[in-house]
Amino acid sequence: MNRKLRMGMVGGGTDAFIGAIHRLAAFMDNQIEMVCGCFSVNPEISRSSGKLYYLPENRVYETYQEMFEKEAQLPEGERMDFVSIVTPNFVHFDPAMMALENGFHVVIDKPITFTLDEALKLKEKLDETGLTLALTHTYSGYPAVKHAKQMIANGELGKVRKVFVEYPQGWLSAKVEDQGNAQASWRTDPKKSGKAGCMGDIGTHAHHLAEYVTGLRVTELCAELNILVPNRMLDDDGAALLRFENGARGVLMATQIAAGEENGIKIRVYGEKGGLEWYQQEPNSLIVKWLDKPTQILRVGTSMNSAIAAHNTRTPGGHPEGYLEAFANIYRNFAMTVMAKMDGKEPTPEMLDFPGIEDGIRGMQFIDTVVKAGYDDSIKWVTL
Ligand SMILES: NC(=O)c1ccc[n+]([C@@H]2O[C@H](COP(=O)([O-])OP(=O)(O)OC[C@H]3O[C@@H](n4cnc5c(N)ncnc54)[C@H](O)[C@@H]3O)[C@@H](O)[C@H]2O)c1
Repeated sequence: MNRKLRMGMVGGGTDAFIGAIHRLAAFMDNQIEMVCGCFSVNPEISRSSGKLYYLPENRVYETYQEMFEKEAQLPEGERMDFVSIVTPNFVHFDPAMMALENGFHVVIDKPITFTLDEALKLKEKLDETGLTLALTHTYSGYPAVKHAKQMIANGELGKVRKVFVEYPQGWLSAKVEDQGNAQASWRTDPKKSGKAGCMGDIGTHAHHLAEYVTGLRVTELCAELNILVPNRMLDDDGAALLRFENGARGVLMATQIAAGEENGIKIRVYGEKGGLEWYQQEPNSLIVKWLDKPTQILRVGTSMNSAIAAHNTRTPGGHPEGYLEAFANIYRNFAMTVMAKMDGKEPTPEMLDFPGIEDGIRGMQFIDTVVKAGYDDSIKWVTL
């Protein structure tokens, strides 16, 4: 490849939250440029956003349908290579399917779709077209998380027996969906968010982190979901006991009503010989605890010396990397994979280390199962 990959975007206008983070992440490594977009459900905001992002008027579209049709008609040397979909959950499947049908690769935010069935349909289309899809489960992009995964895969902790994963936030402690908070408004609406609220929004991140770090699948869970802010339509709090495929047991907690909490996703994994702990608000440290040795604190850029951590680290030790870099790691590995394929080369395992369609399907299975188990006191264990 002697050029950057060309990205289009659906969502991410000046009326949005996560689109701006995606752009920062996509541009960080100089492999990607944005050439077009349909940035908002409101055509006026799409146009004004496109202007602000210095795009030519004819590449800023009023609908994503128009964008895919017109981009597909452009000469190969001009049209976008992939689309980044950063819309609310109910606007994931349709643009993703349309992108694949028109020959574009996809980056999409989680949860991958509104229903499990839609995720399975995307997999069929990906298998048929050979196109690439990346799912932005951000927390799997951190070098310390990748190092933890590698340590467990190497057997350094012995057989994994216990996993605690928690994701407390506090921003939905009041009924802000009634006070004009756009992000809260669709997340608490079952017609836009899907059948889960908090569990779909952040429980899926916790579930993904647990499966990614341990390399183990959750096979069964027992759950309780709660609506703790009166008159809210979807869960804003919940917990699940997990059973993993190797017999390990786990506890998952996700809540958006823990007043005062920011973004406290944390994982602890314990094997026969020791455990490890990673906390997103202190992301450059990995605490490793041993049964028969002193506790270690491994640091990104210095003592965290696995090849996978190095591949996903940009700055020398002591220069903190965080959320944006983790997001950028997903974009970079995705871009390297797409570029390798365009060059007729086989992507390396390090390039292929980003969440994809299988992770998306797992996330939708998690949502279905946790909702099934979460409200019925007569049910104990439900198979995932
Ligand atoms: N990976 C993460 O850490 C992370 C963090 C936040 C949000 N998310 C996910 O990102 C997605 C977006 O969340 P958000 O908080 O940015 O939402 P948001 O409400 O802030 O922004 C949504 C954007 O999509 C646009 N949009 C809606 N319908 C559209 C359509 N038909 N055509 C074009 N644009 C349309 C809106 O106008 C807006 O610009 C959600 O799926 C959410 O779960 C992921």
